[in-house]
Amino acid sequence: MFEKLEMAPADPILGLTEAYNNDPNPAKINLGVGVYKDETGVTPIMTSVHKAEKIILDTEKSKGYLPISGAPAYGKVVRELLFGADDAYPAATAHTPGGTGALRVAAQFLKKFNPNAAVWVSDPTWANHNGIFGDAGFEVKKYTYYNAEDRNLNFDGMRASMQQIPAGDIIILHACCHNPSGIDPTLDQWKQIAQMINDKKLLPLMDFAYQGLGRGLEEDAEGLRTVAAAVDEVVVCSSFSKNFGLYKERVGAITLKGASADDVNKAFSNLKIIIRRLYSNPPSHGGAIVTTIMNDPALRAEWEGEVAQVRGRIAEMRQLFVDTLKAKGVTQDFSFLTGQCGMFSFSGLNPDQVKTLKEKHSIYIVGSGRINVAGMTKANMDPLCTAVAEVL
Ligand code: LMR
Repeated sequence: MFEKLEMAPADPILGLTEAYNNDPNPAKINLGVGVYKDETGVTPIMTSVHKAEKIILDTEKSKGYLPISGAPAYGKVVRELLFGADDAYPAATAHTPGGTGALRVAAQFLKKFNPNAAVWVSDPTWANHNGIFGDAGFEVKKYTYYNAEDRNLNFDGMRASMQQIPAGDIIILHACCHNPSGIDPTLDQWKQIAQMINDKKLLPLMDFAYQGLGRGLEEDAEGLRTVAAAVDEVVVCSSFSKNFGLYKERVGAITLKGASADDVNKAFSNLKIIIRRLYSNPPSHGGAIVTTIMNDPALRAEWEGEVAQVRGRIAEMRQLFVDTLKAKGVTQDFSFLTGQCGMFSFSGLNPDQVKTLKEKHSIYIVGSGRINVAGMTKANMDPLCTAVAEVL
């Protein structure tokens, strides 16, 4: 069978990392995959994470399996991050291998119990949304989101496309730090989105991978909380890769919020069957780190400070990129980058420019022109901007 297969294309994001890793140029710059780098160009382990790992090493008693949905204490802290400390929603959470794992579980669950629905993603969206939901058998359709001309949210267009979505269909929303555009709805726009979801009887799936990297841990949850307050049933897929820096530990979660405890119990029992058949039960370590930090006031305060540092450094790099391009005589206005949220922005670089940056300068950017601002440092800013100015 294998010999009959065609070579598959490289993943548009992780394939780029492979190419970057294989590039011998010592001056190479990776603005592709959404991974945070500190000012020295390293993806650090947070101090709070290190401390939590020491506690786990000293206190862990067994390597026995976790329950199918993971440790209940983990689910509780996840829901606190999502809905706030005083959350009283009927909801249940399963620990998944990363945010991608959460999305794949969600896709399988939704396809099994809502087989005729279509899935609607923002135009543009994270490339893997199409693959994950397509592989689960969904037709994946697009709703209007980005206004390329003005580099902002085309909210009228979004509203108009949402009006066309049939009742019962699934709408995927980026809860904050939209990937790839970096453009989020305002709170008032979220209220209108929530209202439309309710009126149209859509099922919202909130992809929440960047909490804390935009405006703040609480502020970044405002969109999700607005939707959760207005709509009976919500599916949330979380990732702690970025805000805890736990990328390779694969820590994510799927949370089902329902209209009643009874509805949630029924839905969650079915979700557990899906998980059992996909990977049985989650790996423990990353979830234990998140739980340990969240339940220890001193570690939690330290972690919140570290997330604030990450957020601050990204904002600083946005500004420095804009200023450095200007200083290099670039007349094109890039100031839109400073108003955007999270790791990513659409730079406006076209595929040819992206190709030249890679081939001539070993600068790696996703083909759509999405740049990971968190890959910029004070040290690589000058060569980066020289190269960008050259291709513009
Ligand atoms: C990204 O968009 O770069 C990140 O979410 C990493 C990934 O898995 O694609």
